[in-house]
Amino acid sequence: MTMTTAVAPSADLADLAFWRRPPAARHEAFARLRQLEHPVFFAERRVPLLRSGAGFYALVRHCDVVEASRNAKVFSSEPAVTNPEPPGWVKHVFGESMVNMDDPRHARLRRIVSRAFSPKMLSGLQGDIDKAAARIVDDVLAEGPRDFVGQVAAKLPIHVICDMMGIPGEMRAKVHDHVDVSTAYTGVRPSLLRSARMAGRNMFALLALQRLVIRLGRERAAAPAGDLVSALVTANVDGERLTWRELGSFFALLLVAGNETARNTMAHGIKLLTDHPEQRELLTTDFDAHIGGAIEEMVRYVSPIMQFRRTVTQDYDLRGLHLSPGDKVVLFYGSANRDETVFPDAGRFDITRKPNPHVGFGGPGPHFCLGANLARQEIRTMFRELLTRLPGLRAVGEPELLLSNFDNSVRSQGFAF
Ligand code: HEM
Repeated sequence: MTMTTAVAPSADLADLAFWRRPPAARHEAFARLRQLEHPVFFAERRVPLLRSGAGFYALVRHCDVVEASRNAKVFSSEPAVTNPEPPGWVKHVFGESMVNMDDPRHARLRRIVSRAFSPKMLSGLQGDIDKAAARIVDDVLAEGPRDFVGQVAAKLPIHVICDMMGIPGEMRAKVHDHVDVSTAYTGVRPSLLRSARMAGRNMFALLALQRLVIRLGRERAAAPAGDLVSALVTANVDGERLTWRELGSFFALLLVAGNETARNTMAHGIKLLTDHPEQRELLTTDFDAHIGGAIEEMVRYVSPIMQFRRTVTQDYDLRGLHLSPGDKVVLFYGSANRDETVFPDAGRFDITRKPNPHVGFGGPGPHFCLGANLARQEIRTMFRELLTRLPGLRAVGEPELLLSNFDNSVRSQGFAF
């Protein structure tokens, strides 16, 4: 770290206190940071007991996030993309996760698992997503509205992932339980005691999930059943297949990457449509014409994943700032998605925004979200079902947000219809 051109003046992005601020205050702080003379600056880590070294360079502008995402040879995803450095148990459990790998290991895994997300596979899932969304609304009608997250948003993504993997009905309750526990990891650790407690429960939950899918994989390898697990444990056209450990890690990654993100987009989405009645009117007047734009705008506005980290592999100059091997940089997607130089009137929620080159699914590059089209399909189907069958649906009150520097997570959201 040779040239510390600027240190964040008023917003200590490395400090948990920053992530406690209300979202509007954080957006204001990021807007100021994007205006700095040197908007790539060093954020020092002053929080005791966090083990991730001295700090990181913060990338808050759209162009810098795009440049780092695109240039994966210089901006490596190894050893891990979460910030601060995850505790040892996460590495143990996610050791083989593709999101934390560079090519060629990453490319090999992505080749094998990509077939789960082919257009053919996704269109094959549509009938089931339709049925699941209809059932969710049936249940809401029967139970009455309490919490949009628990009754709606949390239900569809995990159901779809279980369907994709061919998880049998009798195993699903266990998957739900374990996922609830494992996604409680927030990326920030408020106290040593609490983090130790959480770590223990998380590790147990994730390992249990992996054991469960590996057991299924062994069964499917012996008797393939035409589902995704069968496809992943039998060789593809290039003779490649996942090892048992890779299968376990991939399932855990899907559950963590594909569950919270889609669920939080829907939960924030219903609140956004409620707070912007003219946008909702536009959407409901011609759903098919506007839902695509509405989903992209929700993902931009919400930025369900607020940051991911990279580690610099070689000397590199980023707009005048010299980066050295080993330096950490953090890509602040939520800030890049509000960059006024790319998104005019960036604080406005506008479902007709065009173009909308947001980085909510990651910047362009080898790690761009593998599940982006699946997420779009889930959100489109759920909102179609909701807005058609519950035309008076609206969020009530403010969402209860989870304290996190990573997931823009909604714990609960009141609603009515
Ligand atoms: C609105 C919903 C979603 C958002 C905002 C989102 C966001 C992201 C982001 C930002 C990355 C980039 C990671 C990086 O650059 O290091 C990513 C990667 C990934 N996402 Fe998503 N995601 C969503 C839904 C899903 C779903 C539904 C799935 C699967 C069921 C999924 C699976 C993945 C996987 C496997 C990766 C790793 C890709 C790789 O490393 O090559 N995501 N996602």
